[in-house]
Order: sequence, then structure tokens, then C-alpha cells
Amino acid sequence: GMFFFFQGKFYLEDPSGTVQLNLSKAISFHCPVLFPPIGWYEDSVFHVNAFGFPPTEPSSTTRAYYGNVNFFGGPSTTSVKASAKLKQLEEENEDAMFVVVSDVWLDSVEVLEKIHLMFSGYAAMPPTCFIFCGNFSSAPYGKTQIKSLKESLKVLAEAICEYPSIHNSSRFVFIPGPEDPGPSTILPRPPLANHITEEFRQRVPFSVFTTNPCRIQYCSQEIVVIREDLVNKMCRNCVRLPSSNLDIPNHFVKTILSQGHLTPLPLYVSPVFWAYDYALRVYPVPDVIIFADKYDPFNISNTDCLCINPGSFPKSGFTFKVYYPSNRTVEDSKLQSL
Ligand SMILES: *[C@@H]1O[C@H](CO)[C@@H](O)[C@H](O)[C@H]1NC(C)=O
Ligand SMILES: *[C@@H]1O[C@H](CO)[C@@H](O)[C@H](O)[C@H]1NC(C)=O
Ligand SMILES: *[C@@H]1O[C@H](CO)[C@@H](O)[C@H](O)[C@H]1NC(C)=O
Ligand SMILES: *[C@@H]1O[C@H](CO)[C@@H](O)[C@H](O)[C@H]1NC(C)=O
Repeated sequence: GMFFFFQGKFYLEDPSGTVQLNLSKAISFHCPVLFPPIGWYEDSVFHVNAFGFPPTEPSSTTRAYYGNVNFFGGPSTTSVKASAKLKQLEEENEDAMFVVVSDVWLDSVEVLEKIHLMFSGYAAMPPTCFIFCGNFSSAPYGKTQIKSLKESLKVLAEAICEYPSIHNSSRFVFIPGPEDPGPSTILPRPPLANHITEEFRQRVPFSVFTTNPCRIQYCSQEIVVIREDLVNKMCRNCVRLPSSNLDIPNHFVKTILSQGHLTPLPLYVSPVFWAYDYALRVYPVPDVIIFADKYDPFNISNTDCLCINPGSFPKSGFTFKVYYPSNRTVEDSKLQSL
């Protein structure tokens, strides 16, 4: 059922119809989409006593039912989880690392300075991959947005070329943010248009401009990345907020994993392109989900899934996250001003 709030009242809707809910007696915080509620029905209103979380299921349990079916996507017909060889490669490659940065404002002098600093720091040991999330501009720019983004990308390509070790061996994945050029706020969002990125891709061949959300397979690991401010959206649509702010990221992660969906929200809060809704599903649970959100950075492990928020690079004092797939840990990084 879909839960929604309209003109001061809560409703539950499913294919059989809509029922008004009375939550005045509902105990325990949980996000509205968490069902089934327990209660009684009186005067065409459902009085809710409690909400429950559907249990989360580790991917090993799901896979025990479905065998080696590849749910994640990509060319392989069987799940990469089945490959002992990939698993071994992954554990042996201790140098592998993913650098995750969100709100990479390429038009900001300060952000570019920090990116330079980051590249010079990593030049001796290039990361496997830089995951750069948008918005890629600090201001909307209106009509000149595309022109300005092309120019910013040119400057970034020059910066990368200054560090040949990085240019030759690191991969760059670009995930568009809510206000980058492209169709409004509907998810999934297509990659930045080819004509914007063409020149950059020629200069930096190991670069991929992809969708939001996107899926990355590294050896036997499944990684999902989404750039969207989901934490606040979920909080605004919660029946009861967690009693302490410290709980918010934990509740957020638990809600997403138990719903098996990246945006378990009413469509008017987070519109989804229905034909591609499957791209937002996270069932079976992947190994890593990167929630690039303007909310404070976090890293939480739940149901064998590591959930990482790098936070906003320019707004959080230039913090970002580094993920090491060989031991499945994540570290906080921060660029200090010189
Ligand atoms: C909800 O139910 C309580 C009793 O449990 C009642 O006092 C209250 O008026 C109801 N609220 C609405 C909006 O129907
Ligand atoms: C995980 O591996 C990385 C890279 O080898 C290393 O720097 C880091 O200290 C390791 N972390 C833990 C907790 O073992
Ligand atoms: C970029 O994306 C965020 C979502 O974090 C949005 O709220 C913001 O207004 C956008 N635009 C700019 C110019 O930062
Ligand atoms: C989460 O981050 C903290 C602080 O950097 C770190 O101590 C901890 O090991 C991380 N957890 C995981 C699962 O990587």
C-alpha cells in the first residue's frame, strides 16, 4: 500500500481503494511506508496502534532461494557472487580504492583547487575509481548552463592530464545531480547529454557519464550509487521522527533496506519514471549503497550492506569518503586548507 498525507490527514491507498488513518495512538517512530500497520477499523477510519518494519533480508538469504540468478544487471547471466575467482581477485587487490565525492561544483575555484590537491595526494597511488556526483555547478546559470558546464569539464580534463598516473589508470564515473542539465527531478535520470561530455571523454578515455542512480560491479561486489537528498525528504514524510538526530541515518538506512527500494516515497515527493522503477530496487540487497546526500556524512553497515554518504564536498569543509573493497571498509577524508 502507498501511504500519503493530504490536507492534514493520513491515508493508505492500495489497488482496492483509499482509507483514512488515525495515528493519534500509533506507537513507535517509523516511516510511513512501513507496513503492515496494526490497529482497528471504525467509522471508515483505520486507527493505527503500531507500525512495523518488514524484516530486512541479507542478500545471502535471498540468493539461497533464487540461486545464481543475476538480479543486479550487466552482461553476465549468472550472479558475479558465484565466482570464487573474482572474490579472490578482490581480496588480493589491497590497493583498490574508490574515492567518492558529491557536489563536485566544477565552476567553483575553491572546489577545483581542492580537486587538484586531491589529485596531487593520490598521484603516487592512483585510486581505482573516482565517483564524482553532481550538481556539477554551484549556480543554475539558466540559458548558459550547458556552455558553462562544458567549459568546466574542459578545466577538469586539464587538471586530470596534469597527473599522468591518474589519467592513465584511474576511472572516472560521473553521476548527475538534481540540477544538472537534463530532465527535471524524475528518477532514474539519464546521463549528461553526449554533446556536453564528448570533448571530455576524448581527453579522459577512462571516463563514464552515467545515470542516476547507477550500478557499478567491481569483482564480486555490487555497488549502487544515487545522488538525491533523500534523508530530509524521508524525514519530512515520517509519521514520527526518531527521538534523537543521531538515529536519523540509521532509521533512514533501515527503511530503504527493508523496503528494498531507493525512494520509498509517494510519487509527488519523489517522482519515478514508472517503466524504469526496477532501477531503483535494491533487492537482493547490494554490497554497497552510496547515498550522495547533502545530509551530514555517514557510514552504516546493515544487513551485510555498507551504506555510505560522502556529504556535500563544498558544504562539509571538503570531506569525502574512500572505500576499500578488499576489506570492505570506508574511511573519512578531508582536505585541509593550506
Ligand atoms: C483519532 O482517534 C482518537 C481516539 O483514538 C480520537 O480522539 C480523535 O478525535 C481521532 N482523530 C481524528 C482526526 O479522527
Ligand atoms: C583496509 O584496507 C586498506 C587498504 O589496504 C587499508 O589502508 C586500511 O587500513 C584497511 N582497513 C582496515 C580496518 O583493515
Ligand atoms: C543542487 O542540488 C541540490 C540538491 O542537493 C539542490 O537543493 C540545489 O539547489 C542544487 N543547485 C545548486 C545550484 O546547488
Ligand atoms: C565507518 O567510519 C568510521 C570512521 O571513519 C570507521 O571507524 C569505521 O570503521 C567505518 N565503518 C566501516 C564499516 O567501514
